[in-house]
Amino acid sequence: MAFAIKVNGNTHSLDVDGDTPLLWVLRDVLGMTGTKFGCGKALCGACTVHINGVATRSCITSVSSIGKSQITTIEAIGATAAGAKIQKAWLEREVVQCGYCQSGQIMSASALLASKPHPTDAEIDAAMSGNICRCGTYLRIREAIKQAAQSSGQGG
Ligand code: FES
Ligand code: FES
Repeated sequence: MAFAIKVNGNTHSLDVDGDTPLLWVLRDVLGMTGTKFGCGKALCGACTVHINGVATRSCITSVSSIGKSQITTIEAIGATAAGAKIQKAWLEREVVQCGYCQSGQIMSASALLASKPHPTDAEIDAAMSGNICRCGTYLRIREAIKQAAQSSGQGG
């Protein structure tokens, strides 16, 4: 079937089955491999993208369900205000270990910061609880989100 989806501001025409997961479309059809496959069952968060600004598991999102929604991936999150602050804090706090989960972590964290510029610890934990990190970078992730939120408070 023919679909047109909008990813990072660009419209892409696709000819795929309607139940094809967005994750496969991004990686295998569009060649955007920054979004990772972990579990395929909405259990790990590695595949997180934004759909209309909301952190969404692309592995269980069918292409037919997207319609005219705006998709943002890790490749373009640095162009958003919250994403830029999160990525800067991630580098300064040296959050990343193996890196596999980190696209999803950054997408969840930037969606949080965009909707709640000064999240509480509980809000951070709630927003990030679905993103699994086998390397155990959770404490650095939380510190980096707090640092990014502080920079929001400084008008940056
Ligand atoms: S690959 Fe989508 S949540 Fe694990
Ligand atoms: S940094 Fe290795 S799985 Fe998270």
